[in-house]
Amino acid sequence: MTPLLLRDLAQVASPAGRGAPLRGPELRAVDVLQGAFVLCEAGRISAVGRMRDLAPLGYDVEELDCRGLSAIPGLVDCHTHACFAGDRVDEFSLRAGGATYEELHAHGGGILSTVRATRAAGPVGLVEALARHVGWMLRAGTTTFEAKSGYGLDHDTELAQLRSIREAGGVATWLGAHAVPPEFVDGDAYLEVLLEDVLPEAAEIAEAADVFLERGAFTAEQARRYLAACAEKGLALRLHGDQFTESGAIPLAIDLGARSVDHLEATGAAGVAALARSDVTGVLLPASALFLDRPMPPARALVDAGAAIALATDFNPGSAFCESLPLVCSLAATQLRLAPEEALAACTVNAAHVVERAGRKGRIARGFDADLVLLAADDWRHLAYHLGGFVVHTVIRAGGIAWSCRA
Ligand code: NIG
Ligand code: FE
Repeated sequence: MTPLLLRDLAQVASPAGRGAPLRGPELRAVDVLQGAFVLCEAGRISAVGRMRDLAPLGYDVEELDCRGLSAIPGLVDCHTHACFAGDRVDEFSLRAGGATYEELHAHGGGILSTVRATRAAGPVGLVEALARHVGWMLRAGTTTFEAKSGYGLDHDTELAQLRSIREAGGVATWLGAHAVPPEFVDGDAYLEVLLEDVLPEAAEIAEAADVFLERGAFTAEQARRYLAACAEKGLALRLHGDQFTESGAIPLAIDLGARSVDHLEATGAAGVAALARSDVTGVLLPASALFLDRPMPPARALVDAGAAIALATDFNPGSAFCESLPLVCSLAATQLRLAPEEALAACTVNAAHVVERAGRKGRIARGFDADLVLLAADDWRHLAYHLGGFVVHTVIRAGGIAWSCRA
């Protein structure tokens, strides 16, 4: 592969330092180079610097004229449900008329309606649907994505989901405990089968396990049982917690040494303080809160208390039909009171930490994977400033142009 030189960039912006996750004041430290270049070789970043310091290279490179553009690290979406079939536009209309997300779920709609569509799609239909969704995410600047199962809730479909996520280049998370499927009368009986029949194979494909700890889904006791069994098989642990009610997700996440607890729209002061003292990252999903017209998570309080936070889309057909991390950054700035710098770090280096890739992804630095987003602006903060606009100009992944508006 010919090396790629991104030249004459108006700015290159990257979270400062080398550590992860970034917390407190470190979260807003961004290094910005003006008038800069980035050299990509063999899929990695081999040099970053000022144009005036660029010496003749002496070998063939492909050059990309980046005048008027700024570069940020490829975005890392550490929480999606992108592997789903069908859509829920009918429910969306019902919600606009006043039905709530939890009511629809309680009446067999919601997650279970996507379970029916996903089971019916079959493995090939699922691969096609995921490819379509991954294309949307890429155009929005996501170069690394995590995706969860959880729309199969049976042996074959859960595993088909995990396989297709991996084949699409995603980080696969096993969300077998997303909802109790209609074939089971209660969560305990379902968990029994899940852990016996699905876990051994799921653990071979997935990197992490996740559970929906919430009224109407799984209790803290059931979540503990599921996660403890998954940890024994070597999976990293994640939780959907405090989305509608505080049901013990933060204490459980801390107790089990989970990598993250995600949502936190219902988290109170004690939860904020506990999370801030821990190594668990709080993954905030403001697109989901907006889409369901729920309170926003206490992002400012978490950051000020010293908690590690990340931002993600939660891309799914029910609670967040949104594949765009730039939009999430706008919501972070306007709704969560995070600075653009904090938003950038939260969906690059800290998100990479959540998916255990912070040594390679989330920064524009020598030796890191050559994943970058070129923004159509000479100030990188347009990432958050341009609300739902066409801010992504070109996406570089593994040192090659993966998508460009110029094409
Ligand atoms: O993170 N709350 C649980 N799971 C997803 C929604 C899934 C769906 O509605 O299909 C979430 O919001
Ligand atoms: Fe989610």
